[in-house]
Amino acid sequence: MRSHWAQQPFLNFGRSPPLKWMLLCFISVVALIAVFGSSSLSRLDFVDSSSAPQIYNTYRRLGEQATTDFLEIKSLSLGVTHPRELHLCVKERENHVPCYNVSANFLVGFHDGEEFDRHCELSGVGPPCLVRPPKEYKIPLRWPAGRDVIWSGNVKITKNQFLSSGSMTKRLMLLEENQIAFQSEDGMNIDGVKDYSRQIAEMIGLGSDSEFLQAGVRTVLDIGCGFGSFGAHLFSLNLMTVCIAAYEIFGSQVQLSLERGLPAMIGSFISRQLPYPSLSFDMVHCAQCGIIWDNKDGAFLIEVDRVLKPGGYFVLTSPTSKPQSSSLSVKNQNMFTPIEDFAQKICWSLLAQQDETFIWQKTADVNCYTSRKNGHIPPLCKYDNDEDSYYQPLLSCISGTASKRWVPVQNRSHWPAYYQMSAHELAVHGIHPEDFLEDSHVWRSALNNYWSLLTPLIFSDHPKRPGDEDPLPPFNMIRNVMDMSAHYGGLNAALLEARKAVWVMNVVPIRTPNTLPLILDRGFAGVLHDWCEPFPTYPRTYDMLHAMGLLSHLLNSEECDISGLFLEMDRILRPEGWVVLCDKVQVIEKARRLAAQNRWDARVIELQNDNDQRLLVCQKPFLKK
Ligand SMILES: *[C@@H]1O[C@H](CO)[C@@H](O)[C@H](O)[C@H]1NC(C)=O
Ligand SMILES: *[C@@H]1O[C@H](CO)[C@@H](O)[C@H](O)[C@H]1NC(C)=O
Repeated sequence: MRSHWAQQPFLNFGRSPPLKWMLLCFISVVALIAVFGSSSLSRLDFVDSSSAPQIYNTYRRLGEQATTDFLEIKSLSLGVTHPRELHLCVKERENHVPCYNVSANFLVGFHDGEEFDRHCELSGVGPPCLVRPPKEYKIPLRWPAGRDVIWSGNVKITKNQFLSSGSMTKRLMLLEENQIAFQSEDGMNIDGVKDYSRQIAEMIGLGSDSEFLQAGVRTVLDIGCGFGSFGAHLFSLNLMTVCIAAYEIFGSQVQLSLERGLPAMIGSFISRQLPYPSLSFDMVHCAQCGIIWDNKDGAFLIEVDRVLKPGGYFVLTSPTSKPQSSSLSVKNQNMFTPIEDFAQKICWSLLAQQDETFIWQKTADVNCYTSRKNGHIPPLCKYDNDEDSYYQPLLSCISGTASKRWVPVQNRSHWPAYYQMSAHELAVHGIHPEDFLEDSHVWRSALNNYWSLLTPLIFSDHPKRPGDEDPLPPFNMIRNVMDMSAHYGGLNAALLEARKAVWVMNVVPIRTPNTLPLILDRGFAGVLHDWCEPFPTYPRTYDMLHAMGLLSHLLNSEECDISGLFLEMDRILRPEGWVVLCDKVQVIEKARRLAAQNRWDARVIELQNDNDQRLLVCQKPFLKK
C-alpha cells in the first residue's frame, strides 16, 4: 500500500494548501542533513518505499558529494552571527504557568474564583529566560511504567496531599523516597477505580465497562481528575479521556496526569467556555470535582450540555448531590435537587442513581427542546454558531441543536472504524474524501521518516551507519505529543496505526480553518488555541512538539512575536524532548537561530525535489545550570 502510494504522481496540489505543505515536506526520498556550526557534513537517506526505512543506505556515494555541499552550506551560514544563548530563569519560575498569576488577578479586582481563571492580558512578559527543571528532576519512565510510577521531584506536591489523598480516583503511595506509585493496572485495585468504572457501565445498561465503545462512548472529558486514575483505566479500554482542572499551585491534577502520560490541560468552569466546539465529547465525568453545579443559574450545566454529544452521558459522583429521600425508584421521587430539576429543563434524563453517583443522558432527539413545557427553561441560542468558541463568556442558552454534527453517539460506527470517517461524515465537515485520503496516506509514510529522526544520532558529527545494529527508536520512545497545527489530525491517525505508545494533543490554531470539530469527531483529543498566547499547561509536560506551516502562518499574520513562542515551546517541553518543524526555508533559518538561543540541539534537513521547504529537528537538552 505504502510503496504503491510512494510511486503515485501527486495530484490536486491546488485544492488544499495544508496538504500541499505535507507533500512538499515528505515526498522526498533523500534528505540532506546539514550541520551548522560544526565542521562536518553528512547526508542521510530516507527511503520510505520499503517496509523499514533504510536510513543512511547510500552513505558512501553521498559522502563523495559532501565536500561540495559543505562549501555551499558554509557560504549559507556565513554572516550569521552566533546567537546569544538564553539563561535559565530563577528557581521561583520553575513551575511557572503564564496567564495564571492569581495574586495579580486578585489585585485588579477579580474575585469569587475568577482570580483562578485564565487572564493572559495580566501576565507580564518578564525577561526572556528558559524555565529550569527542579533540582531533583529526573527523566520520566517510559510508558507504561511511567503511568504507574513517577519521580516525586518532578511534580509539586505537598506531604499533606499524600496524607489526604484517600478518596476514590486519588489514592497514591510513596514507594521509595523519590518515587510516587499509583495503583497499577494489574495491581490490587486498591483505589476501586475498576469497580467504579464497571458500576458506571452497568448504570447505563451495559454488561461491563469493556462495552463502552460499543455503546458509543470513546471520548471522555474528566473534570477534576484527581491523579488521573479513572482516565488511566479507561485508556486501557481504548477510551480517550482528557482531564481538565483549574490552575492549582500545588499538587495540580493536570500536572500529575501529564507526568503519568495521560491527556490533560488546564481548563475551568468559572466564567468562560472551554476552548472546545459544541458537541465534542461522548461523556463528561465529575467525581467530587468541586464545581457547584447549580450556581450561576445553571450556566455550568449548560456548558456541559454544550460540549456533550447528543445521547452522551454526564456522570456526577458527589455526596452533595444526594437527594433527601433514598427511595430506589428515582422516577417516583418528588424531591428533586436543583440539578435534577434543571437537567429536565435542558432535555437530560436521569438514567440511574446509585450511592453517590448520578448519570444523566443528553437527549438524542432534537425535537425534545421544542416540546419542553414553559416556565423558566433555557432557550435555544439564536446564533447557533459556536464552533469557534475560544474562551467566550458562558452562555445561558442551548447550542448545537442546529448543527449538522447533531448525531447521537449511539448512531455512529464503532471505534476504531470512525476515526477513518465515512464519506457521509466527511461531507458533514465539508471535506472532500479524496483530500482526506491523501492526507492520511501522506502522513502514514511521513511518520516513518519522523520516527527515524528521533534519535540523538542525527546530531552527532559522524553519524554511524545504523544498518542492522541501530534499530528504529522504540515504540514508547515518547508519550505526550502535541501537534501544534493539527489540520485533520493526520499525524495522530498515523501514530495510532503504527501502534506507537503516544497520545496527541491536536491543536487547531485560531485564525486558521477550524478543523477541530472533525478531529474530535474522529475520537481524538484536541483544542483550539491562539499561539500568540501561552498554552494552558504546566512546564515540562510534552515529549514532542510538531508544527507544520505554523511559523509562516504566524509570521504572515504578523500578530505576534515568534521568539516568545519558542520560549513557550521550551517551557512546555520535557528535558530531552523533541521539536519537529516543517516550513519555508527562510522561516526555518529564523527558527534555527531561535533554537540555538534556546540551547536546543538542532539539525536542518533539506528535502529533495524541493528547495523551498526545510525540516528542523531539535532536541531540548537536560540543562541543570
Ligand atoms: C504576579 O503578579 C504579582 C503582582 O502583580 C507580581 O508581583 C509577580 O511578579 C507576578 N508573578 C509572576 C510569576 O509573574
Ligand atoms: C439513530 O438511530 C435510530 C435507530 O436506528 C434512528 O431511528 C434515528 O433516526 C437515528 N438518528 C439520527 C439522528 O440519525
